[in-house]
Amino acid sequence: MALKCAVVGMGGIGNTHATCYKENPLAELVAVCDLVKEKADEAAAKFGCRAFYDEEEMLKAMPEIDVVSITTSGYENGSMHFEPAMLALSYKKAVLVEKPICADIRDARVLVDYAAKNKLYLACDLNHYFTQPAEDAKKRQLEGKVGELIYCIHKVGFNGTQDAYSKMMPQQWQMP
Ligand SMILES: NC(=O)c1ccc[n+]([C@@H]2O[C@H](COP(=O)([O-])OP(=O)(O)OC[C@H]3O[C@@H](n4cnc5c(N)ncnc54)[C@H](O)[C@@H]3O)[C@@H](O)[C@H]2O)c1
Repeated sequence: MALKCAVVGMGGIGNTHATCYKENPLAELVAVCDLVKEKADEAAAKFGCRAFYDEEEMLKAMPEIDVVSITTSGYENGSMHFEPAMLALSYKKAVLVEKPICADIRDARVLVDYAAKNKLYLACDLNHYFTQPAEDAKKRQLEGKVGELIYCIHKVGFNGTQDAYSKMMPQQWQMP
């Protein structure tokens, strides 16, 4: 049975999440939400689902929702993630939050702790996690070659799609 999915924050990336849910037979897009009514209405019309302008109203009105994508942005693109992600978790939803998980690592830790303690799924959509460069960086971290990672600038020299990665990895990637 398809998971019932909702998207909060209908900018460019929220619309991408909605498109992915629409195209995936394991998902059923049931609701979109944006503080800006026109954005929510436009997406709801495009994707054929319900529109909401307040996340909590959506969560109360549609208890059947299984998964919530948080695709809001804010300062440094992550300052508006914590509250909507915590709200969805507090309603016992699985949450997929856009990168960066939060703009402040202390908020991120609260979010992760809350999800772990309540045995809820929480994932951060950073599409470069499962790549050779990221694996190499993690290996160095685990080997104690770098300290706790709190900030990282990552330059990707190509368009970054899964297709591009699969063509270049692992032969072309060299540890610096
Ligand atoms: N994974 C990727 O490849 C990728 C690529 C680009 C952007 N992003 C991330 O996606 C996120 C969104 O980026 P964007 O460019 O679509 O942003 P955007 O500013 O265009 O859209 C965000 C939307 O969220 C709405 N919003 C904000 N707070 C809300 C709330 N509490 N409830 C409901 N709606 C709310 C805003 O009104 C806006 O329409 C950012 O965090 C960004 O870092 C990820």
